[in-house]
Amino acid sequence: MNLKQQLDSIISAGISETAGIADCKALINYARDEKFGDYQANGIMGVAKQLGKNPREFGEQVLDTLDLSGIAEKLELAGPGFINIHLANDFLSKALNTLIASGQLIQKTEKPQTVVVDYSSPNLAKEMHVGHMRGTIIGDALVRIFEHLGHIVIRQNHFGDWGTQFGMLITHMQDLHTADTSLKNELADLEMFYRQAKERFDSDADFANASRENVVKLQAGDAECLALWQEFINISMEHCEKLYTLLGITLSSNDIRAESFYNDKLAPVIADLETKGLLTESDGASCVFLEEFTSKDGTPLPVIVKKSDGGFLYATTDLAAIQYRNEILKADRVLYVVDARQSLHFQQVFKVAELAAYKKQSCSLEHLSYGTMMGSDGKPFKTRSGGTVKLLDLVNEGVTRAHTLVASKNPDMQDAEKQAIADVVGIAAIKYFELSKNRNSDYVFDWDTMLSFEGNTAPYLLYAYARIRSIFRKEEAANIDSFDITVNEKEEKALAIKLLQFTETVEQVAQDCFPNQLCLYLYELAGIYMRFYEACPVLKAQPAVKNSRLGLCQLTALTIREGLNLLGIDTLEKM
Ligand code: ARG
Repeated sequence: MNLKQQLDSIISAGISETAGIADCKALINYARDEKFGDYQANGIMGVAKQLGKNPREFGEQVLDTLDLSGIAEKLELAGPGFINIHLANDFLSKALNTLIASGQLIQKTEKPQTVVVDYSSPNLAKEMHVGHMRGTIIGDALVRIFEHLGHIVIRQNHFGDWGTQFGMLITHMQDLHTADTSLKNELADLEMFYRQAKERFDSDADFANASRENVVKLQAGDAECLALWQEFINISMEHCEKLYTLLGITLSSNDIRAESFYNDKLAPVIADLETKGLLTESDGASCVFLEEFTSKDGTPLPVIVKKSDGGFLYATTDLAAIQYRNEILKADRVLYVVDARQSLHFQQVFKVAELAAYKKQSCSLEHLSYGTMMGSDGKPFKTRSGGTVKLLDLVNEGVTRAHTLVASKNPDMQDAEKQAIADVVGIAAIKYFELSKNRNSDYVFDWDTMLSFEGNTAPYLLYAYARIRSIFRKEEAANIDSFDITVNEKEEKALAIKLLQFTETVEQVAQDCFPNQLCLYLYELAGIYMRFYEACPVLKAQPAVKNSRLGLCQLTALTIREGLNLLGIDTLEKM
């Protein structure tokens, strides 16, 4: 049980007992302002209202039944019926000592779930671009968090490898194969290759027809098409994998369940929807009409699952994937970390899946959408010439910029060391900038902000961490490795409470899937630590106090490191 739950259960029981009603909720909140104590219970008012009692009087009665001795030093009734909880220093000291001795900063969940996370999932027809960066980074932070809490995590990279675009690419490859044997060179720049094929598709009717035929052939299993397709896919995947490695993304080839994986499961989906009476023919296409989705003029919008030419669609594949994730993977939760622009698609597909019973009732399907990355002009992020920004170029630029920064701070450092630090800082800056934003919002990509040593940034946190670690390299602290923390000063208390909130913060992120909450926590922790460090001398204090304060330093460092690692960010011992 985390601290919040611990308080919650005691106070809830007190309210329930006083009211004579089962399962009352204490509604515990962290009080950000000291005068409200450390935590606040807001649940009194609702229950008093339900009983027709005066909230303050009812609150007094609840207070009389509560026994928080050993946990709180003071409880007080405030406002129209809040209970302010002032935690006891002894309690905090004990809790921190247990934490530091256990070496486990995060409590494992008591109810492990099977969580399927569909993330990154770029289209292999083109090079991975910045649009896929958000989902890749956010998804990877989430899987790390779920895993760390003890859930069973199944990553799914739902690569787009099967759509109509591949007909066009195959046709272009066929032509080049006869004209030029160095296809591998041609494919070195996938973006260029795609553009050439697209140009031909748009301007040359024969090419377009051949391309359409090739899609049908591919999906029917034609050997030549499949071989060319495979060649293309392999190169495109290699490119993604290079990026994953560079960015420290935990997706591996085992996690690939691309669209093509579902090819033989699509016809059965259509047959099944038909049997269940969910299909309607419309202009030769098979559609599901859902009452809740209508166009502006009120006409129902179709979810097309089979085109008039017999081809299947993105939605069909997603229905098959839901079946697979339920029946085979046995998911309790399926999370889709995908661009907000696909929100209607997911609402529709989830609804069809429910009607067709492709998911068990208890399984929750969640679209974790994210907004658009903008350039400084407030428009979607593009290169200067208006093209899509290649992710590889972006990451390389981050590292180069970090190198300049490191070099300016440490002119005398060896070059290899500078580069090693820059590699970590550059990637951390990009990832952290992404994660620290509310994923629902659009944000402006800005190198200066993300590489700043001030504010809620990776360099700030990495530096804070390295500074704490440097204390332990000093002679006065070098051999201390067991700690006995005694919380006394108010800055120590504030730090102690913050440290104890790590586990509840991570649990909250696992629930709502907003990693920016963890970033904010780490940023606040670093700030509270700085205030503690300014107010409370560590190395100059007398031995017992020094040991206690070093314990607080140690726990802060461990928490920052673990928090950053959960976000997929490496730390540096020196910076
Ligand atoms: N490949 C798609 C895209 O690039 C994203 C796939 C997301 N996952 C899914 N199950 N639909 O937009």
